[in-house]
Amino acid sequence: MEGNLIIDNCTLATPRGHKALRGSEMGAWEEMPGCRIIVRGGIIEYAGPASEAPRVDEKEYALFDANGHVAMPGMVDSHTHLVFGGFRPNEFGWRLKGVSYMEIMQRGGGIQSTVDATHNIDAATMAEKGRWFIDRMLADGVTTVEAKSGYGLDVETEEKMLDAIHELRESCSDRIHVVPTFLGAHAVPREYKGRTDEYIDYMIAEMLPRFKDKARFCDIFCEKNVFEIEESRRFLKAAKDMGYELKLHADEIVTLGGAELAAELGAVSADHLLHISDEGIRRLAESGTVATCLPLTAFALKEPYAPARLMIDAGCAVALATDLNPGSCFSGSIPLTIALGCLYMGMTIQEVISALTINGAAAVGMADTIGTLEPGKEANIAMLHFTTIDALPYYVGMNCVERVWFRGMQVVTPSRSLPLD
Ligand code: NIG
Ligand code: FE
Repeated sequence: MEGNLIIDNCTLATPRGHKALRGSEMGAWEEMPGCRIIVRGGIIEYAGPASEAPRVDEKEYALFDANGHVAMPGMVDSHTHLVFGGFRPNEFGWRLKGVSYMEIMQRGGGIQSTVDATHNIDAATMAEKGRWFIDRMLADGVTTVEAKSGYGLDVETEEKMLDAIHELRESCSDRIHVVPTFLGAHAVPREYKGRTDEYIDYMIAEMLPRFKDKARFCDIFCEKNVFEIEESRRFLKAAKDMGYELKLHADEIVTLGGAELAAELGAVSADHLLHISDEGIRRLAESGTVATCLPLTAFALKEPYAPARLMIDAGCAVALATDLNPGSCFSGSIPLTIALGCLYMGMTIQEVISALTINGAAAVGMADTIGTLEPGKEANIAMLHFTTIDALPYYVGMNCVERVWFRGMQVVTPSRSLPLD
């Protein structure tokens, strides 16, 4: 009976497939009322029109009448900096007064100040902070979250971060997937200032081999005055040779060619892309790399949004994620991500949902098992308070998710339901 569930009378809202949707595929699906979802042992057996559902012995299942409400795949937040020491509200105040993100970083603040705080926090406290964010993500309908290290910048502290992520992955495994990424190449640490190549040598010699079993992905902040293209290429090639799958913070602050590098190296995703070039868009469209846009960061930095519309029209696979972190974007709000995607990036609600489900799943290498509501996939389901997905951008920046199931087990229950008249 564990994980056996029937959801009746729902409006099914799901993209389909086992890999990232590209270009026009992202918006080419419709919500479907009058559906039934049958889940056995946490895995979906059927999701579709109730009239075509196979007969099952209902006594063996928990039954739930959705009353027409939308059932969509649990969302994937495929880019977060979920664990860290300290907070940086002071910097936000400086930014409000016009000091730029990179100026703060070059003065030794920014990422480096979180590095200092992360050196001073223990793994258990860091995990406990992460759990606080996970509770909120889950309530927003997120059932898979990627989490990066990157505020250690030395073997010991990067390991402490990956251990905190591992502790979250274990302790929350009954409600959310936590996917670890090694981001030792997040900044050049103070003690290596002016010696970027030596820091890269150190990461290649000491960190990459040591963290191979602790992180599936390896990421880098490929940026002018941080890790330039040649430096990024050298580091990422070494990581790939050791078996890591690649991600890049690419073209976030200036146009540097990070998207082109991601395509060249067969990265799983290129993220940010606020300043992607036309050539970068073409290269991503021809590649298997997911273009992950992080609109909350653009919003918080008061920068232009990534050209998601152009990318989709060019045939890219676009994902959306939050980039939750203590600096550039202290927000993990899925509702605001949805609103920005529809209102300011020219995406349809179907495209936004594809970007937050199947394409997010592809960006963490899990499109085979999650990201859509189809037979054989995990029953990770977000149910809305509403009977149409149009409510998601309409209820601007507010959480529309009423209930969440993870592998067929309910993990979010509403305190109150909204009467629909
Ligand atoms: O994705 N740009 C690099 N990394 C993060 C910000 C990290 C921070 O400011 O602490 C980002 O924007
Ligand atoms: Fe980031």
